[in-house]
Amino acid sequence: MIKDKFAPIIIAVDGPAAAGKGTLSRRLAHFYDLAYLDTGSLYRAVGWSVLNAGGNPRNADEATEAAKNLDMSGIESHDIRTAEIGRAASIVAAIPSVRAALLDFQRNFAKHPPHFHEGKVRGAVLDGRDIGTVVCPDATVKLFIIADLEERAKRRWQELTARDAGLPLEQVVEDLRRRDARDSGRDTAPLTPSSDAEILDTSKLSIEEVVARSIRMVDRKLGIGSSPGETA
Ligand code: DC
Repeated sequence: MIKDKFAPIIIAVDGPAAAGKGTLSRRLAHFYDLAYLDTGSLYRAVGWSVLNAGGNPRNADEATEAAKNLDMSGIESHDIRTAEIGRAASIVAAIPSVRAALLDFQRNFAKHPPHFHEGKVRGAVLDGRDIGTVVCPDATVKLFIIADLEERAKRRWQELTARDAGLPLEQVVEDLRRRDARDSGRDTAPLTPSSDAEILDTSKLSIEEVVARSIRMVDRKLGIGSSPGETA
């Protein structure tokens, strides 16, 4: 395929919940001058809207209506990073018409990243579950970030206990286990690495190591900084 050299650089970052995608994506966006879209926040916002209206996230009509009318500016002041909203997000994300309603927005962000045409950014980083497989199958670079369930649960627990001090670690482990099963087991756009994705296991790595390894992977794909014969 002939790639347009003036097209935005797109980095797709996929992986299970709490694997470290958000932190890595923000760091990559900063490093390479890219816009950033946390696509999980769209599904979280849909989950929040349904719950806020007293609805049921399993109700496909209610969830689809919320996705079609999504207004992220109205959500900003609300805390959508709670365990309850994460659960609702994972439930609405399994509904095909919800995914369809959010697809154009994500593709449009990748095709026309904010401030790209003014030359302020060179492209975009999108993180989620299906960026490399469905949203941006032609992404310049695809990273698939994984980590052991226990390690992810510990990281998420540390984040969540800042809001809910009494939250038991076991509950977070169980919650993530269910979320993994739902995100990977759904029929539409399940969580799975694209065949051309670079897989990075962050279980035993610090965030600095994850960022450094990812930058090496991205540089290699972009054809920068690699000397002949370099392998890692
Ligand atoms: O990354 P997160 O925890 O904020 O995502 C919340 C839920 O949204 C997640 O359980 C699955 C869903 N999601 C998805 O299905 N596809 C995406 N591209 C991003 C998130």
